[in-house]
Amino acid sequence: MILVTGATGHLGTATLEHLLKNTPVNKIVAFARDENKAKHLKEKGIEVRLGNFEDTASLDKAMQGIEKVLLISTIDHQRYQQHKNVVDAAKKAGVKHIAYTGVTLKDVNTSAVKFLMDSHFQTEDYIKKSGLNYTFLRNSLYAEVIPIYVGEKVFETGIYLPTGNGKVGYALRREMGEATANVLLQNGHENKIYQITGSELYSYQDVANELSSLSGKRINYTDADAATFPDKLKEYGVPELQILIASGFSADIKNGQYEIVSKDLENLLARKPASLKESLKEIYNL
Ligand SMILES: NC(=O)c1ccc[n+]([C@@H]2O[C@H](COP(=O)([O-])OP(=O)(O)OC[C@H]3O[C@@H](n4cnc5c(N)ncnc54)[C@H](OP(=O)(O)O)[C@@H]3O)[C@@H](O)[C@H]2O)c1
Repeated sequence: MILVTGATGHLGTATLEHLLKNTPVNKIVAFARDENKAKHLKEKGIEVRLGNFEDTASLDKAMQGIEKVLLISTIDHQRYQQHKNVVDAAKKAGVKHIAYTGVTLKDVNTSAVKFLMDSHFQTEDYIKKSGLNYTFLRNSLYAEVIPIYVGEKVFETGIYLPTGNGKVGYALRREMGEATANVLLQNGHENKIYQITGSELYSYQDVANELSSLSGKRINYTDADAATFPDKLKEYGVPELQILIASGFSADIKNGQYEIVSKDLENLLARKPASLKESLKEIYNL
């Protein structure tokens, strides 16, 4: 049986959808902390085990009879401890294989959001040391984060971000979920590290160009001044932590931290992942 954590989240949902199409429902278990949010999973016939990464007894219970675990990272600042709890419970229960969704970055040590990203690599090290078979899915940025970065009014205001000409190999979360499900369903992914990226790199100028061509409106990209960008966000009432994260991710994009392209997603999907244009068309319904 396969246990999917983060089952009520976006990536977990995408993974479960593909698992459901390709394996009997009684082989899938969803781990969720909110019974209401997991109602639709039960309705699909999926066994839901309730718990929290901070509640080790709930994790011990959830791991019973499980062979493979998908550990989807949380965004909590205590996530390393949370992830460790999942790994410990998996090991204790005799789980054979754990897949972990981390991040693809050129060099975490020079990341502007090192304080957040370090925990991904610490988790990977912890999993390796546990002796469990592992698969690390180092995810690039979701194409779905683009609307969050460019803002709701992008079609009126254009794009204003301090990302320079930095590029990212965006991928759709739907396709990352499908690839993740394939890792869980197939053999041969033991002790492998995959860079889950799109097939090409794109800058925010490319995003502006594609949105212009899809919408028929001219959308300009302005390379914002990184020094004054946080103050601008503050003026718009963006909370402090979000400002720190938005500025940090933008700096990483500008500095080429996400300029990684790999064939791993393509191989796991057995087709080319969606291009930026196809992704934006789907996300914006254009
Ligand atoms: N690559 C990217 O661009 C990108 C962007 C954003 C985030 N991420 C990372 O990728 C992860 C998955 O992305 P996503 O879009 O699926 O995020 P999401 O929709 O926020 O899903 C996170 C899932 O983790 C669960 N969770 C959080 N804390 C938990 C805890 N203490 N115990 C048990 N379950 C817990 C959530 O449960 P509830 O439904 O109850 O909240 C939810 O199901 C994120 O958590 C973050 O680490 C990546």
